[in-house]
This record gives sequence, C-alpha cells and structure tokens, in this order.
Amino acid sequence: MIKIAIDYYPEHWDRSLWEDDVRAMAELGCYAVRVGEFAWSRMEPAEGVYDFGWLDDAVELIARYGMKVILGTPTNCAPLWLYTEHPDTVQCERDGQRTHLGIRGHRCQTSPTFRAYAEKIVRKMAERYAGRPEVLAWQIDNEVESNHCTCPSCQERFQKYCKDKHGTLEQLNRDWGTVVWSGEYSDWSQIECFNTAWVNKSDWFNPAYMLEYERFCSETTAEYVAFQAALIREYDPAATITTNACFGLHVQDFYKEFAPLDVASYDNYPPLEIPEDANEVYSNAFALDMVRGWKNKNFWIMEQLGGPMGCWMPTTRAMEPGMLEGYALQAVAHGADLLSFFRWRTAATGAEMYCFGLLDHDNKPNRRLKELELLQHRLAKIEGLEDTTVEAQVALVFSPDQSYNFANQAQSRGFDYWRQERLFHDTLMGLGVNVDVVSDAEPLDPARHKLVIVPAYAVTSDAFAEKLEAYVRSGGHAVLTARSGAKDANGNCTVGEYLPGKFARMAGCRVLESDAIGEAVQTLRDSNGNVHNIGVWCDLLELDGARAIAEYDQRYYAGMPAACRNAYGEGSCSYVGTIGDKSFHRALLVSELRLAGIDFIENLPAGVESSTRAGGGREYRFFFNNTMKNHTFFYQGKRVTLQPLEVKISTSDGAWL
Ligand code: GLA
Ligand code: ZN
Repeated sequence: MIKIAIDYYPEHWDRSLWEDDVRAMAELGCYAVRVGEFAWSRMEPAEGVYDFGWLDDAVELIARYGMKVILGTPTNCAPLWLYTEHPDTVQCERDGQRTHLGIRGHRCQTSPTFRAYAEKIVRKMAERYAGRPEVLAWQIDNEVESNHCTCPSCQERFQKYCKDKHGTLEQLNRDWGTVVWSGEYSDWSQIECFNTAWVNKSDWFNPAYMLEYERFCSETTAEYVAFQAALIREYDPAATITTNACFGLHVQDFYKEFAPLDVASYDNYPPLEIPEDANEVYSNAFALDMVRGWKNKNFWIMEQLGGPMGCWMPTTRAMEPGMLEGYALQAVAHGADLLSFFRWRTAATGAEMYCFGLLDHDNKPNRRLKELELLQHRLAKIEGLEDTTVEAQVALVFSPDQSYNFANQAQSRGFDYWRQERLFHDTLMGLGVNVDVVSDAEPLDPARHKLVIVPAYAVTSDAFAEKLEAYVRSGGHAVLTARSGAKDANGNCTVGEYLPGKFARMAGCRVLESDAIGEAVQTLRDSNGNVHNIGVWCDLLELDGARAIAEYDQRYYAGMPAACRNAYGEGSCSYVGTIGDKSFHRALLVSELRLAGIDFIENLPAGVESSTRAGGGREYRFFFNNTMKNHTFFYQGKRVTLQPLEVKISTSDGAWL
C-alpha cells in the first residue's frame, strides 16, 4: 500500500501529549513518523554533551505503536553555542557580513569548523540508531539549498574550483571573456563569491562568471549532502538515505545531489489558491515529475501539504474540501510511494505558529484529519499500486545550466525558463500523456522516449548537441525552442554562425533576426489556420530544408515562419522561435504526438490532468481536477464527473477506484 507518514516534532511538545499523538497516528494507519530534524540543541545542549534520551523515548514510543521512524540529521540548525563560539560556521551575506542568527539554515555548508561539528553529531546519531529495525530511513539536513555563502571558506573553495576547472588564469580569462571592462584576473584571490539573487543589478556582471558561480554553489551542496550520506553509511551500508528537496531561491542540480542517495524526496506544497485565469500555469505536476526524474524511479514526499501555510508570509486561505486528498493523490499519480504529512499539530511557538499542520492549536479532531482518514481508506483499497511505476514516452529535458542562465540574464522581459518547461508539461498533462523530466546529462534513446522536448537550450556543449542529433538521426522526435544554441558551454555567445547554432543543421532553419517583444502580445497562425497569442521573443526564421508549421501574423515579419519542422535522419526536429500561449502549445504537441505515434486523450476539460502508473499487468489511469469547477467528460465511453480537486482512477481491467 502507498504509505502515509507524519512529520512530528516531539521536542516541541509537553511529554504528556506524546502518547496520545502517537496513538492517534497509529490509529490513522500511519506507517512512519519523521522526527529529529532541527533538534540539534536538544541532542547536544552544550559542546560534547549529548542527550539522546528524549529521542530514544520518542523512537521507542513510535515503535511500540507499530510505526517506523524517518530520522532527520539536525544540521540545518546548529545550536547557538556553536555559532557564537565559532562564528566561522555562520553563512555570510553578499557584503561578506555574517548573517543574523535566530532563524534557521544559516550554517555555511563548507566551513571546516561546521563540517567537524556536523560530522560529530551525525556520527553520534548514526552510532545510536543506524541499522535499527525501527529506522525506515534517514533524511539529511532540511531543504538544503544551493550554498550561496560568501565567507572566506567558500571563497577559497570557489577559487580552487576555478583553478581545477580552468587550469590557468589565462585560460580562465579566455573562457569567461574577461577582457570586457578590464575584468581580467591577474591573481586567483581576485575571484569572489557572488550572490546573484541578492544583488539587485546582476545584469552588470559577467554572465559566464555568474554561470560558473552557480555551478560551483550547486556542486558544493551536492558534496555537502554526499558527505553526510557517507557518514551514515559507515554505520549502516544498507541505510535508506534521502534529503527533502524544495525549489527555493537558489536551485541546485538535484540530479547530482541525489546521485549518492537512495530515494528522491520532495516537500510538496501545491498552491492553496487556484487561479481562475486559464492561461496561468499552476499545476504542481511538473515538480512531481521532475522529482521522479532525479533518480528515474518512484519517490517520497517528506512534507505533504496538511494545512494552510503562513508565518513567514500571511496565512493562505483554508484548504478547500477535497484538497488534502486531491493533492496527495496527484503526488501518488506521479510516482510518490510514501507521503509524510506536514505536520501533526501546528506549532504553538516559534516563527511557524501560523503555518498549519493537520491539527490546529485546539488539538481537536477536524476536517483535515478526517480527510486524511478517508484518504487512508481509499489507498488501502487500491491493491498493488505500490508495485507500479510511471512509464513515459515523452521526455522534457531540464538543464540546470539553462535555469541559471535565464535567471541571471533573462534577455527579454518575461523570459522564464521554468515557465517554459511548465507550459510544455502542463499541456501534456491535459492530453493525458506521461512525461519524464530528465536531466540533460542523461542518455537520449528513441526506444525509451519517442519525443524529447528541449526548451530554450542556450548554453550548449558539443556533447549535448551531438547527443540530441544522434537521437533524432536514429528516429527520435525533438522540439527545440528560441535561444537554443545561442551560447557555448562557458555561457558566451557563439560567433559566426546562424542560430540555432549547433542545432541548425538538424532544425533545417536559420534565425535571421530576433525581436525581444517582452510583455507585448502578438499573434501567429498555425498550419491549420488557427491564431494563437505569443509573447516574450520572436525569431524570424528562414527555412533551410524545414517546413513551416506556424507563421507570424503581425509587424514587418508577418508571413515569416515562426516555427518549423524538419525531417532529419529517421526522425524529426521542430524549432519554435517564439513562446506561445496554452492553445499554441496544445496544437503543437498534438501534432508532435501524432508524428511520434504516442496516444493521447483529446477531450479532457481544461484543468483536468491525467497520467498513469502501471505494473503487474495492470494500468491505473488517474484523472485529477486541478480547478475549482465541476467537470464532466467521456473516457472509454463512460461519463466521468469530477468535483473540484477530485481524483478518480480507472484501471485497465475496467474498474473505477
Ligand atoms: C518547509 C520546511 C518545513 C516548514 C515548512 C512550512 O518545507 O521544510 O520545516 O518550514 O516549509 O511550510
Ligand atoms: Zn561559507
């Protein structure tokens, strides 16, 4: 059965509450309880003084009620004694100042002093709990974000990273094109850490340098997570280890971060307020498919939405009836095998006292808990679901480099890499097509994915261009969009060739000129004569073997191709030189799916998503109404109605669950 767990912070509550809490979780049929993260000051109240008695009691109590624990290492929050006695463990802001203490997550991930203390506490925990039957898994730290710290330790590491990668200063100056504005480095010590998100005017900095810095921060974080995983494995080589990811201010390369871990996990907080505007892309399904792609297998949710969010932002609207269940089943549809709800009872103290858990402060049974109970009953009836996986014929390539590149330098107002990824993904969900969100470092194989979508692939290595070309040549279908091939692997513009540069031959077209239209809305006409809105960017194309599939409708380039498709080798490559609205994406993808021979569902109402899990000879097709309206449609001759946020599941043997 798909497993339900609970995030619990025993250290926040009076002991008199513990047993009632744990008993109630067990009565709900929970499989596990996540404890320990953030509790360093209780585990090591003073330097070298360890107290695990309280955690032993909590683990013992949870086990007595038949549940397992997921243990969090507490390193997100070092105790104040550590920070004050060793200020070099505190993260630095962009001005080089140590950050203000008293919140969380302000440890420097590279500080040797911090690492030494982190190692000690992780070893103490592992020594005590690793390999015990009560321990289901370990969670490293909490929501580790790409380490954008400017402290001397990070600075030194960044300089070493640059040295290792570029070899000499001459080479680095060439690779980054630092001659502009006399930015040539004459000493490694001149290379500084740089917090792009904290600098208001990142547009004045060298994009190649910013890209390299983002790569460095990402690698640092992956290494920090791997360091903790290795420690735990010393005590239990068979331990199941994860870390709970989120998409924060600084996004690292999660594919690399999860490589040494056993299972990907994610903190799943879908929107509580669903926009009415049909052109908005708000579905959370993209994030879930991306998480599955980190390890190419089913995943866990370490924090699943259990109540209205708030505190560090004004409290959101209450959860709509059906929302807790609908969002949980949406996660299951995309491959979640365990969902740990955040959190048992809402904190009564601390910054998150208005960030609601399953129970309110009154600690009385409520609508959300009731819904969780119903969800449990429903999951219990769906036998075999835990043995299924999500198989997709479409891959959406996600590239951390492009994410950094466009975040640092959007080039046109509204040029948002993530939004483009989501637009494609959202459209495929509305067509009932499974999608793998894969790293650009992964092999591409037409036998696995018949269609590969590669939005805005600007920073281009030879290796990736060759890989994609080989994929198309051997029968794959690819879709490329505007800015593809615009930069080399260092993040500098390519010179002396028409775009899409390294992809031009395969795309069968040339970009003659571009118009950064930003927030202006223009139109194009597709090959069926339908008109769609476009924005942000327009490449004016000249065909070189390809066939136009859309033409601009306005301005001096009316009648010029906006998108085209080229037969290449055994496959095809489409190039889309603009960013269309949802209707454009739908028209484009319908024709791509037909070309690639991939089945889809044509008649789902807007906002209804569908995807499948399959295994053991049975397929489960999920339908999720991600809107606040009722919807009705026909599927295999049957009339299906969905309430707002409702999920229905149809199985290949004709059952509806
Ligand atoms: C994050 C954190 C949790 C908590 C929740 C609140 O996901 O991991 O500790 O702060 O957000 O929504
Ligand atoms: Zn640092």
